[in-house]
Parts: sequence; structure tokens; C-alpha cells
Amino acid sequence: MANETNNFSEIIAHCKEYGYIFPSSEIYDGLSAVYDYGQNGVQLKKNIRDYWWKSMTQLHENIVGIDAAIFMHPLTWKASGHIDNFSDPMIDNKDSNKRYRVDHLIESYADKLAHEGRKEEEYALLKRMDELLSKDDFTGLRNLIEDNNITCAVSETCNWTDIRQFNLMFDTQLGTISGEADKIYLRPETAQGIFVNFLNVQKTGRMRIPFGIAQTGKAFRNEIVARQFIFRMREFEQMEMQFFVRPGTELQWYEYWKEARLKWHESLGIPVEKLRYHNHVKLAHYANAAVDIEYEFPFGFKELEGIHSRTDFDLKQHGELSKKKLQYFDNDLKEDGEPYGNYIPYVVETSVGLDRLFLTVISMSYAEEKWTKEDGSEDSRVVLRIPAKIAPYKLAILPLVKKDGLPEIAKQLMNECKESFYTFYEEKDSIGKRYRRMDAIGTPFCVTIDHRTKDDNTVTIRYRDTMLQERIPLSDVRKVVMEKIS
Ligand code: GAP
Repeated sequence: MANETNNFSEIIAHCKEYGYIFPSSEIYDGLSAVYDYGQNGVQLKKNIRDYWWKSMTQLHENIVGIDAAIFMHPLTWKASGHIDNFSDPMIDNKDSNKRYRVDHLIESYADKLAHEGRKEEEYALLKRMDELLSKDDFTGLRNLIEDNNITCAVSETCNWTDIRQFNLMFDTQLGTISGEADKIYLRPETAQGIFVNFLNVQKTGRMRIPFGIAQTGKAFRNEIVARQFIFRMREFEQMEMQFFVRPGTELQWYEYWKEARLKWHESLGIPVEKLRYHNHVKLAHYANAAVDIEYEFPFGFKELEGIHSRTDFDLKQHGELSKKKLQYFDNDLKEDGEPYGNYIPYVVETSVGLDRLFLTVISMSYAEEKWTKEDGSEDSRVVLRIPAKIAPYKLAILPLVKKDGLPEIAKQLMNECKESFYTFYEEKDSIGKRYRRMDAIGTPFCVTIDHRTKDDNTVTIRYRDTMLQERIPLSDVRKVVMEKIS
């Protein structure tokens, strides 16, 4: 049946039209790279977050959650290395004054090469870029840009400045009296809230290594080139888990989480062929191994989640700056025939952007379909095939007409179901139009209450993905939907 496309600008327009995502403060023309989630978006986002939270905490008895504050003591960011190292190499075009992140500029050009079928050149360019980035060779990177005649999208010239580093953290002031206040930062990652609470959680929760601490929450980065809708935002949400392990076992756990996280994305319903690993060539200052799980977005394969073996870097640094012993006394070592020991645990981190995962779900779900009906006429629809378990609404309840007692039956059904899952009630427009609207929102099941319902207590249930309809007892509706979403 299908003639499906996956057009990015149409996905963005669809998100706005159906209450998923709006530009921030749109009445004032919006704010660059900041977005608001609408009535359906907030529900989808919450469902994705809950799915992650449950799989991390409820399904792992050795992982607990916390919710640390966004504002943290400024020394946190000194210890973590963000004040000194959290910067990206940037280059400015002298004619347009437009600033680019060097890797993004080169990657855009590589995308263009790929688009033109010049795959080998694309591969060679990216390989060279990775080599130069790993050596912080800014002269080499500038030469690479100039040798390939990579131009600014605005001025279309190759008139570039030298490459410089820019810190990505937002700062603000604590306290009300300007000047006396201390400079503090909006956290650029949630992970540090976990590290500084390591001892609190370990001691109060009597946690034994290996164990994890999970957290979801907002993070802020002054992305210079913020683009591609909610892919790269200045205010976004992360879902991170730090897994504390014995030194020397970290690479085993790294492999474990690398595999576990890919499987988790598949369990969410992401097609396996749209996911791949990308090993980091240039390791972050804290890591001894790192990989991205990439998803094939409408604009190509890009990072969705990072899995990092962070060594003991963070706990060691916080220990030194706070002068507190952030150590673990390992009673279990004796059982394993080793001496008792205090040590600083090593950490394997899993870090996924909630907004990026949201974009993944929307991108993989969005489909434009056209087909020929039995009578030879053409029909079409736009559908969001969001996996039922995370769809904002699970069931739409639609009385065929607004009279003859049908709305009353529909509302009674809604009351029976709404404790268990989100239901949507709609009595306006033709039933065909209402089905199309539910397809566009991504509601997996619609139930129509018609006159026959009054006679035999049955309803028509329609399945979004197949558009098939069948008659089931009214009293089974809740059970049928529960089975499909659990
Ligand atoms: N604690 C490790 C850390 O923050 P990261 O690779 O910088 O690592 C982790 O970020 C994840 O956060 C990324 O894989 C991505 O999904 C998400 N993320 C990072 N920057 C983002 C941005 N500007 N907008 C949206 N999501 C972002």
C-alpha cells in the first residue's frame, strides 16, 4: 500500500500542527535552538523518560535514581574539567561573521560529498578530520577546510579566521546583589550531580559495587551552531546513569552496557538497521573508551547516546577539590581472595539525550502513505506509527453521532479506561476525518460507538497501523488495549 517518505521539514511542520513541539516564545519570533513541548509532545516525552527510568531503576535492583539540582557549587565544574576543557574548536567566516563548529562545518561538506555519490572522498575527509581533531591540530584543520574549498553557507566564501576554542557553559550569578554574587553555571551535563552524591547514595542506600545511580534532567550548552530542530538545543534533557565498578573491571562493564543500551533502543521499537556504533577516535579528557550509538536521522547517521568508560577521573577530581575521601571500602574483595581495600571506583556512563530520542521516535514513526482503494480512487494519510507503549494517547473513543445515547456510552467507556491509560474523546466531524486525525497524532487504537452498540454491546476497534477494523465486545475494550500496550 505504502508510498512512504521521511521528509525532515514535513516532520517539523507536523510536530507543530499536532501539538508536539512549538518554537519557544513563538509570539516573539522564537528563540534560537530552544523549543517547547506541546500537549502531545510532553506526554510522549514523559512516556519515553518513564520507559528509560523503569528499565534503569525498577528492572535493575543495583541501580537507584536521584534528582540533583541544576545549580551546583562552581568548584564542581573546575573538578570535572568543564571550565578548562568544555570547549569546541570554532572558526568564523570573515565575510559573513558567521561562526561554525569546525567538525560540523567539515561534516556538512562530507554530507554533500556523500549526496553526490563521492563516497571515497567523504570517507577520506572524515578520517583526516578525526585524525586532526584527536591531535588538536588547528592549523591542519584550517588547511583541510581551505584545501577542500569549504565555504560559508551565508557568504559562500572561503575567507576563514584561525580556529579558536569556545567554552559552551552558560554562567549566571548566585544571590541578588550583582557584583557580590558568585558566578555559577547552568549544568552542561547531569552526570556531575551523580558524582558529588556518590557517597550520600552509597552510604544511605548501603550500595555494594557494582551499582549505578540514574538521573534525568535538564542540561544547558551554549551551542554555537545549534541546528536540526531538537537534535542540537541550548536547553535539553539528558538521561544518564553512572555505573560504579571495581578498577580493572571497567572495560568488561563498558562492553556490557554498550550491548545492553543498543538492545534497549531496539526494545523501544527503533529498527535495528537504523542504529549503529561509532567508536570515538578522540577520547574526552575523562575517558579510556567511548562509543556513540548513532541513529539514522532524516539528515544522516548521528549520535543518539554515548557510552563512556570514565575511569576514576571524576571521583578523584572531586575528592581532591573537596578534600573529602570519595572512596569505597570493598568488603567483598576478601570473599574473592583479595585483600580488603579502599579504592576510588571506576565509572561506566550511559548518557542519552531525551530530546534526541524523542526526535528518533518521531522520525521513525512519521510516514506519508498513499494507496488505491477498491473502487480505483486514490487515498492518503499521514500517520505517526509511534510504538503503542509510548504513544501519548492509547485509545480514542468516538461516538458515531452526537445523539441517541451514543456519547453517554462513550463517556462511560472513557471513565472505565482512563485510570489505566490515556484516552481521547472526540465527537466532532465525520468518522473518517476523526480516524485521520488520530493517525496524525499517533493514537494506536480507535473505538467507535454506533447504534449496533446499543443492541449487542459491541464496538468497532480500528488499528492505526493496518487500518483494519473488527467488532469486539464493549466490555473487552480496556483489556484488549491493555494487552497491546503492556
Ligand atoms: N555526561 C556525558 C555527556 O554529557 P555528551 O555526549 O556530551 O556526553 C550525551 O552528551 C548525550 O546528550 C548525547 O548523546 C545527546 O543525546 C545529548 N546531547 C548532548 N548535547 C545536546 C544538545 N545540544 N541538544 C540535545 N541533546 C544533546
